[in-house]
Amino acid sequence: APDEPPEPPAGGVRAPGRAAIAARTLRTDRWWLQPAATFAGLLAFVVYSTWRAFADTDYYAAPYVSPFYSPCLAENCRDMKGGPNFDLLGSWWGLSPALLILVFPLGFRLTCYYYRKAYYRAFWSSPPACAVAEPHATYTGETRFPLVLQNMHRYFFYAAIPVAAILTYDTVLAFRDTHYEWGHMGLGTLVFLVNIVLIWAYTLSCHSCRHLVGGRLRHFSKHPVRYRLWTWAGRLNERHMFLAWASLISVACADLYVYLLATGAFTDPAIF
Ligand code: FES
Repeated sequence: APDEPPEPPAGGVRAPGRAAIAARTLRTDRWWLQPAATFAGLLAFVVYSTWRAFADTDYYAAPYVSPFYSPCLAENCRDMKGGPNFDLLGSWWGLSPALLILVFPLGFRLTCYYYRKAYYRAFWSSPPACAVAEPHATYTGETRFPLVLQNMHRYFFYAAIPVAAILTYDTVLAFRDTHYEWGHMGLGTLVFLVNIVLIWAYTLSCHSCRHLVGGRLRHFSKHPVRYRLWTWAGRLNERHMFLAWASLISVACADLYVYLLATGAFTDPAIF
């Protein structure tokens, strides 16, 4: 009959052998709040960072370079005097230089264990929350293309280390004034300092990092240094979600700060 509701799909949580519960969830709390907030937060960052990455302008205000554009690998950011400009590609690259470098932090975050959980829940409802049935009929996990590529996370972790090192270099350069004299500290220096601490903390709290320093050992007692490093990585790892968000916000703030300086919205207040 045309008025009958459609049959729910027979796979997923409705597969034979699963408990026959008709309700999508028995949870009575506001379980949708967290995926909704994650959705809004990640979407806001994606919109902002896409705009800034393609803008190809206002990414340098001496002595600060936007973290989205560093290091600059093409000739079209030659005017970034005193900035981290390594013109590896020459003049044939005509697009925004941010696109050359952002693939690394983007790949690192996209394949991150925490972000995977966040966007699987918030964007794909797979599942939307604990004990809430997902709408999909089948589930193959991360065993097939393209999700099998999530296994590349450890390689993105390796790439994240030089990226963080370059942002550290930029933070050191931020201790100069607009004439590139050393011994200056502006509000921007502070913004960069907070950002680089959070970037390193996020990077070193990575699950791959923890495995790299302490994994595959039979006896911790025979590897005291690695054991010590592993406990440090573990302590950071407990806060991985917090650090993922804090560093995401701080990197956007650092970029926004440079944008506002570069567009002349205000001048950098000096601290000393
Ligand atoms: Fe999140 Fe590696 S697990 S960065």
